[in-house]
Amino acid sequence: MTTTQQELHPAVVKFLSNSPKKMLINGEFVASKSGKTFDTINPATGEVIAKVYEADKEDIDAAVKAARTAFEGEWKKVTPKDREKLLNRLADLIEKNAAEFAQLETLDNGKPINESTFADVPLSVDNFRYFAGWANKIHGETLPVSNGNYFAYTLREPVGVVGQIIPWNFPLLMAAWKIAAAVAMGNCVVLKPAEQTPLTALRLGELIIEAGFPKGVINICPGFGETAGAALSSHMDVDKVAFTGEYITGRKIIQASTGNLKRVSLELGGKSPNVVFTDGDLDAALSGCIGSVFFNQGQVCCAGTRLFVEKKIYDDFVGKLSDRVKGIKLGAGLDPSTQMGPLVSEEQLKRVTGYLDIGKKEGANPLAGGNRAKGEHLDKGYFVEPTVFANVNNKMRIAQEEIFGPVVSAIPFNDVNDAVFQGNETTYGLAAGVWTKDIKKAHSVAKALKAGTVWINCYNVFDPCAPFGGFKQSGFGREGGIHTLELYTQVKTVWVNLS
Ligand code: NAI
Ligand code: MG
Repeated sequence: MTTTQQELHPAVVKFLSNSPKKMLINGEFVASKSGKTFDTINPATGEVIAKVYEADKEDIDAAVKAARTAFEGEWKKVTPKDREKLLNRLADLIEKNAAEFAQLETLDNGKPINESTFADVPLSVDNFRYFAGWANKIHGETLPVSNGNYFAYTLREPVGVVGQIIPWNFPLLMAAWKIAAAVAMGNCVVLKPAEQTPLTALRLGELIIEAGFPKGVINICPGFGETAGAALSSHMDVDKVAFTGEYITGRKIIQASTGNLKRVSLELGGKSPNVVFTDGDLDAALSGCIGSVFFNQGQVCCAGTRLFVEKKIYDDFVGKLSDRVKGIKLGAGLDPSTQMGPLVSEEQLKRVTGYLDIGKKEGANPLAGGNRAKGEHLDKGYFVEPTVFANVNNKMRIAQEEIFGPVVSAIPFNDVNDAVFQGNETTYGLAAGVWTKDIKKAHSVAKALKAGTVWINCYNVFDPCAPFGGFKQSGFGREGGIHTLELYTQVKTVWVNLS
């Protein structure tokens, strides 16, 4: 720890003091059945923060059994109003412990404390409150049937036991996205946090008990993908799996789901085009581009990593962008003056620096950055320089493959058609940005881009009511808003003979 870092919150110290951290199964914190543990690492220093019990197949079995028992028993008796109350209570408890959550998230993931304080934690709270509100507002319909003397209606019922597998880039927020909607709709959950960042989900588990959820409704089992994740996604008594992560893992999830044909929803990242037209507010576009690429060290599924700039202004815009990017202050996330922290893990550092080499070999020109970051307080952590590649064409690997780091590939375009064509020339379709003052152009480009979210003259804006998810190989299913409820309910039609 460097001297510029603030003291750890007493609650964080207390939370970390009972290591190895246990997993939440059936309302209790328990060790793994095998006794095995793994280390969770502070990416700013490479030091071990805590040991964590490692869930494997037997633990997942126990968690699924607990969820099934709760689903068929106690949880059925809890009214929609009481589900709402429980979720709101959980939101209140997170809010009450917000400073602790922010610090724990920054320790485990590396992100700047300002981001965990002003984005991750409050968005998680909002998400629980938003879906709490849906608990008693989703209902069936009566049906205007024509074939005889029948009364027919539908019921919206929960799907059952839901397995949820989340990544490490927004550990608490992804847990909130997944758990809130499922539980609001009356499902029971087994959540597997990412092995890189299990801590805030486990702290959330403590608050789940404090909020008064019946045992087994929410189970939280940290472990590795190939073991715990695979066990959950192939489990014959799991009715649905919701996944966020890499597209390669998404394919494995689908394959694993075939045993009992469980429902699947996938959010798989992207290579999002961010399109800047000459007639845009270019100062705003510049700031928007920086936010779109370097927020969370670029470890964001919807990051605007393919920056398309109209040819006339390309050199000027990309030059200004690199000047600004060179000024981004790197450091440990706990230091409040840090603007960009380390990547989450050594593995991610290798992946990103690998792409920096690939980009240079492909002939791209690193106008800013391009290397692992060096410096007294950086050498032990997983820091890379924020990087702007110019001279990129859309066929290069750095323009087509998800790097998941602070790297932007700047590509010129000629006109609207060219921007749309190149923008859509990708296997992904998660998000896109458009910068122009021309209202007609803005909306027609938004319509033509194949992406689940399009931001016009803004980027990375989120709200729990806004659906988020992919076109093409970015996945399917929407999280956020009313569309999420479709993932976590099923429709039953009931016919009554009136004759
Ligand atoms: P990953 O997809 O392997 O991991 C995400 C989650 O899936 C983790 O909880 C992991 O334990 C689990 N998992 C891994 N293999 C599994 C399997 N066979 N069965 C079930 N669950 C499994 O992603 P990883 O390896 O952490 O990162 C690699 C790349 O994936 C990143 O560089 C980035 O490009 C992409 N990624 C995309 C994310 C997004 O938000 N869409 C989030 C994280 C990573
Ligand atoms: Mg992986």
